[in-house]
Amino acid sequence: MGFKVAVVGATGNVGREMLDILAERAFPADDVIALASRKSMGVEVSFGDKILKCKSLDQYDFSDVDICLMSAGGSVSKQWSPKIAAAGAVVIDNSSAWRYDADVPLIVPEVNADALAGFRKKGIIANPNCSTAQLVVALKPLHDRAKITRVVVATYQSVSGAGHDAMDELFAQTRAVYVTDPVEPKKFPKRIAFNVIPHIDVFMEDGYTKEEWKMMAETKKILDPAIKLTATCVRVPVFIGHSEAVNIEFENPITPDEAREILARAPGCLVIDKREPGGYVTPYECAGEDATYISRIREDATVENGLVLWCVSDNLRKGAALNAVQIAEVLVNRKLVSAKQKAA
Ligand SMILES: NC(=O)c1ccc[n+]([C@@H]2O[C@H](COP(=O)([O-])OP(=O)(O)OC[C@H]3O[C@@H](n4cnc5c(N)ncnc54)[C@H](OP(=O)(O)O)[C@@H]3O)[C@@H](O)[C@H]2O)c1
Repeated sequence: MGFKVAVVGATGNVGREMLDILAERAFPADDVIALASRKSMGVEVSFGDKILKCKSLDQYDFSDVDICLMSAGGSVSKQWSPKIAAAGAVVIDNSSAWRYDADVPLIVPEVNADALAGFRKKGIIANPNCSTAQLVVALKPLHDRAKITRVVVATYQSVSGAGHDAMDELFAQTRAVYVTDPVEPKKFPKRIAFNVIPHIDVFMEDGYTKEEWKMMAETKKILDPAIKLTATCVRVPVFIGHSEAVNIEFENPITPDEAREILARAPGCLVIDKREPGGYVTPYECAGEDATYISRIREDATVENGLVLWCVSDNLRKGAALNAVQIAEVLVNRKLVSAKQKAA
């Protein structure tokens, strides 16, 4: 008997991608349910070669659902995830609502799949922020080899990371610039078309933004609490694909050649690093792909044991939907979840 899987936020950027990935990877589901807000009842979404009609989250009975993939934002998750878990479904959540809860595992399967064991306390598993997911996939194999002590990262994050309204805003503003219409920022605090904005999520008291704080806190929780990390997170006018320039300091020596070899063998990583024009990956090329691409690996000679690299991934896939489906696959493969008896 296969699993019954509910996708909450099925009309959104991440939810649509979740449905695609469940179908692409032939997840062992007998039944997939698309859920969104009341306003989307009856809206059609694709699932492989099928069309699903969205149902309303607040009218849905989860009692025979086995796995619920949530991507409807933090406040919806805070309200609904505990209720869905209490009905007996394992919730894999994409929002930041549960990531820092000590009773909720925060998982990137290539990095800390074993931490999944703790999910039964609340029945909820958290997915990291998109910029953290790709970063820890690249850092983990290097940490295992030479022990990372400090990371300095600057991100170049695409607008799809802020939802489908944000993608519409980049499109509308770009068009407005060409036809000399007024450019109106709505979702972003400043114009995003032909611009970059050094501000993602809210400002914290110390001057960092919440997005920057998330990268620090999540890297510690997923990879190693001893790693010091400082980030500058920047929104750029790219539709899909987050990029990161990463300076890494190690306790032990490691050369760029060793790092290249280690990363080339690491799960989830693909190294494309030719020291010539075009010999690196850009976000345009990673859209629709599963890997975390690593390029521009070189020595940072300003510190004792330092490397610099460029890391790019599809934020809707590894940064969200793919990671969530991979977590569900680990639950199934390790028999941490079983299919409930369904009503006839
Ligand atoms: N985009 C990324 O790269 C990324 C990466 C990691 C994590 N995340 C997280 O994933 C979540 C979704 O992001 P997104 O980019 O897919 O956003 P989005 O495109 O704006 O989609 C939001 C989804 O949530 C649904 N929703 C909103 N309010 C709801 C309610 N009261 N009840 C049921 N459904 C409701 C929407 O349904 P309606 O269409 O009916 O309103 C829509 O399906 C967010 O928590 C985000 O932080 C996103």
